Amino acid sequence: MIPRPFAEIAGLGVAVPSRVVTNAEFEATLDTSDQWIVERTGIRERRYAGPSDSVASLSRDAALRAMERAGITPLDLDSIVLGTASPDRLLPSTACDLQALLGAERAAAFDVSAACPGFLYAMTVAEGLIASEQSRTSLVIGAEKLTAITDMTDRSTAILFGDAAGAAIIRRTAGGPKARGILSTFIKSDGRLGDLLYRPGGGAAEPLSQAVLTARSHFIRMAGREVFKSAVLAMSDACDQALERAGVKADEIDLLIPHQANVRIIEATAKHAGMPMERVMVNVDRYGNTSSASIPLAIDQAVEEGRVRPGSLILLVSFGAGFTWASAVVRW
Ligand code: ACO
Repeated sequence: MIPRPFAEIAGLGVAVPSRVVTNAEFEATLDTSDQWIVERTGIRERRYAGPSDSVASLSRDAALRAMERAGITPLDLDSIVLGTASPDRLLPSTACDLQALLGAERAAAFDVSAACPGFLYAMTVAEGLIASEQSRTSLVIGAEKLTAITDMTDRSTAILFGDAAGAAIIRRTAGGPKARGILSTFIKSDGRLGDLLYRPGGGAAEPLSQAVLTARSHFIRMAGREVFKSAVLAMSDACDQALERAGVKADEIDLLIPHQANVRIIEATAKHAGMPMERVMVNVDRYGNTSSASIPLAIDQAVEEGRVRPGSLILLVSFGAGFTWASAVVRW
């Protein structure tokens, strides 16, 4: 094993669409209320992509910011690894569309399908590419246009999701004791639970047809209560795994940055990890669940607010459809 850290997050950038959708907007079309949504999820508003926004265009905006902060250009990229559950097209990958938008001619580009932990999965893949010397500099993205795959007539899912993109430049580093960088990663999945959170139609198993459209089965379906329970167990396990692999104790972590799906899941995860809520990042109130964009969006805000500073130890943890879960400890 190569001693860690051998890769660092050299720059981070995010992009969110300008349209803000408040809970009140749903009261007009669904049997729901601002009070229910806030109490059961913690969400107050989310961002919706406009007709000209795509997963690739949001990713480009986030990537340009990340590259500027890292002091590199698209021609420095050896790889582009993009986590998404809502690709612009089924073929080719959104990563290849992004490569073309950026003019990142030297890179190999591909998508990772791991739902909400897509960013952490992509970061883990990028770290592996660096370890095997396929890459020195990788663009890692978590980006979604979930509104395109959400059934806006289903009150149990419509209120949850938002659109956004987050990007990170993952770069080889010299490492050494106390050096900034990725100290551990952990990824895991359980495909037996796939049908608790899925899109039944529109793929190769049940190609798009009038019957699929009529049944609205190309949209996300979720057994919320079951997903909730699994999320708490998996995120708790993932916290333990990343800490153990990094050789770090929970009380050494400056900020826990969990996937922003539901504030009650975040509170339960923090309780398990023994982290008081003052050391937990929460911005689900502003953006809802942005799936793979959620972690970079939360890191970026924490950095902006000065809650993550050079040298800070952060614990990242996520969970989503698959089921998939993932975590990482990073020294900022
Ligand atoms: N407004 C009002 N009532 C509602 C709404 C709503 N928007 N949505 C559901 N309800 C109702 C239900 O119909 C149900 O009514 P009933 O008791 O008459 O049947 C009642 O509220 C309780 O429903 P539950 O599903 O038990 O509510 P819960 O407290 O579990 O909250 C929620 C639902 C918010 C979806 C929650 O289960 C949750 O957050 N689950 C996890 C979601 C998640 O983490 N997803 C992660 C991955 S997403 C991805 O990978 C793309």
